[in-house]
Parts: sequence; structure tokens; C-alpha cells
Amino acid sequence: MHCTRKITEELLWVGGNDRRLAMFEGVYSVPRGVSYNSYLLLDEKTVLFDTVDRSVAKVFLENVAYGLGGRSLDFLVVQHMEPDHTAALMEILSRHPQAKLVCTAKTAAMIGQFFGEDVTARAVLAKEGSRLETGRRSLVFHMAPMVHWPEVMVTFDETEGILFSADAFGVFGAINGAIFDDEVDFERDYLDEARRYYANIVGKYGSFVQSLMDRVCGGQIRLICPLHGFVLRKEIGLMAEKYRRWSAYEPEETGVMIAYASVYGNTENAAEILSCRLRELGLRTVMFDVSVTPASEIVAAAFKWSHLVFASTTYNTGIFITMEELLRDIAAHGLKNRTAAFIENGSWAPASGRLMKEILEPLSGFKVLPETVSIKSALKPGQLGEIEALARAIRDDAESAPRA
Ligand code: FEO
Repeated sequence: MHCTRKITEELLWVGGNDRRLAMFEGVYSVPRGVSYNSYLLLDEKTVLFDTVDRSVAKVFLENVAYGLGGRSLDFLVVQHMEPDHTAALMEILSRHPQAKLVCTAKTAAMIGQFFGEDVTARAVLAKEGSRLETGRRSLVFHMAPMVHWPEVMVTFDETEGILFSADAFGVFGAINGAIFDDEVDFERDYLDEARRYYANIVGKYGSFVQSLMDRVCGGQIRLICPLHGFVLRKEIGLMAEKYRRWSAYEPEETGVMIAYASVYGNTENAAEILSCRLRELGLRTVMFDVSVTPASEIVAAAFKWSHLVFASTTYNTGIFITMEELLRDIAAHGLKNRTAAFIENGSWAPASGRLMKEILEPLSGFKVLPETVSIKSALKPGQLGEIEALARAIRDDAESAPRA
């Protein structure tokens, strides 16, 4: 049975929710599920914006048929070719043989790659600033390469002030019957997921996000319709400011994220003591055990906080496995402009401090504090002064060169 939400008198949400998926893209945990959004515009011409993942394709096809109500589909706009939005693309084209496909040239080529079909004969190729008139509306297309694939574009309905933003402004989590951000407590319940989505999916491509924001966000935007999560109408200002900050790699908060890898609890103990000293100096702290917290959450926290501490035991003469994965993930996402500090542990040859530093020091705008604390098996009473010195160095850095 169809399951849709009305967004405006002539715009329907025709997507679906998947709450069974464990790992989005095989790597990002989604304990609260994920939505795959598609939108059906019922102007004098009918326009479908993107399709969905295969997991919700059945209800999606029912939704589109219901939404069309016997009308034919005139245009399928494919803004992003990734399969979580295109699993039903060929089925839609097959069911609506008269429909034109609107997409970038790269998308048309990728459709051939993914589905082995040449769709160029029915494609209307969009370029920066090109338009589609649908009757009462004028849609303008903006290229959004590397937000976060090269073929991406977004669509602005100039008449209604609606931005169809592809993956940008997306959020992890099923939307559970709500469609608008003001039907939930978005800032309290979904901002962390919006950050985790941005940092992990789009975070590497900040300059491309900024270019898109400059071109699109000057317009009068009344609604933002992303491909995952809620339609934004209340929190457009909040999210535009967050995207500006995230894409510039500016921390949102002054404070310390401590991530630790500890086999027998001694590295964790040193991290806990550091967190206590930082709190006593007035700094906020968050702590993550990298062995149990998904890396995507810690990457998102690294985008949020100004100061980052990594504490790791030495393992097989290197960095502990999960910590090394985390640090390489942070480096791969191109995080910039943070102050980092390290605690290393090793019962016979501590090396993790130097090795962790080697991964993060080359990152643009990263400042590494020299006060690495080195532990042999467990922190000794005589080393408490070293932890206190590290805490003071972090506090002094936060006060002398605030990053947030
Ligand atoms: Fe939601 Fe980049 O696909």
C-alpha cells in the first residue's frame, strides 16, 4: 500500500524508510535506520526527483503510481547516481516510456556503467543554470560536483523557493512518519546525525560544498528537500550555518575530544585522569573508546570539537588497530584546523605516540602539542604532573588561539 506525505499542494514525498539496514554503504552504522527520499512534483508537467534504494523500491513504486493518479510522468530528474537513489531508475523509465530523463552528462554515462543501457536518446542534459519549465514553475539546475560524487546536481524551484539538494543537508535516521524538521526536535535529536552524515559522507569535499552554498544559498529558500532525512523549513538557517562551518573545517565548540584505545584499562585510566584535569581547568570534554564506538561517530565529533587527544597502546610495534583505522579515517576525510595531543602506552617499546603524530601532523592547519605523555604499562604517581602539564597546555592553547 502506498505511503506518502504531502509537502505542498503539488509536491509529494514518495520515498521510504529502511530500519533493517545495519551498515549504510557497508561502513556507517544506522541504528535508527535511514530514509530514502524521492519527491513527485505535480505541476502542468509531472516531475519525479530521484528514485530510491532497492530496500524500499516496492513501496516507492506504489507511491509514485498513487501520486500520479493516472497521469503520465513527464520528467525523471536524476540528481545523484549513487545506487541508494537509483535502484528503481530503470523500472521507472520502463513504466513511463514517454518520460524524459533530466541529468548531467556524467550521470547519463554512469547509468550506462551501472545498468548497461544507453539512455542518451531520452536524456535532457542539464548544465549549470539550465532550466526546466513545468508550467507554473521554473526549475533551475546547479552543478554540485563532489558533493559528494562528480555527477551530482541540485535543483532549485525558483517559483516556490524549494531546493532539491540531493545528498546535501541529509540526515541518518528513519523519519518515522514525520517529513518536516519541525515535526521533531531536530536540533536535539537529529543534529548529531546530520553532523555524522556530513562529516563521513561529504566531509572530504568542503571546498565543493562552499562553492555550491555560494551559488544556491543566496536565493530565497523556503524548503530544502534532501535525499535522506527531513524536509527543512524551520532549521534552514541553523543547517546553512552548520554547513558553512563544517565545510570550512571550523570547529563548532571549544573543548576536547578524547579518543582512546586501551587493552587492559591503563591507557583508558590515563585518558580519564586527563579528562578530569581538563574539566577542572574549565574545558568541556567528550570521551570515546575506539574499540566500541563506531568510527563514524568519532569522526563527526572530531569535526565538532576544537582540540583532539588520542591515547593508544602500542600494538604489534604500531598503533592499536582500531585507533589506527580511526586516525586514517580522519586523515582521509581531510579534517583541518585542529589542535592535537597524544598519550602513548607500551610495555616494552612505546611507539604509538610518534606513529599517531605522523598521521595527523601533515593535515592542513593541524597543530600538534609537544607534550606527549608516554606510559610504560600503567601511569605512575610520578607521571601525574605530566598529565597535568598536558591539560594546562591544551587549556593554554584553547585560550590563546580560540578556534571556535
Ligand atoms: Fe545517498 Fe550519495 O547517496
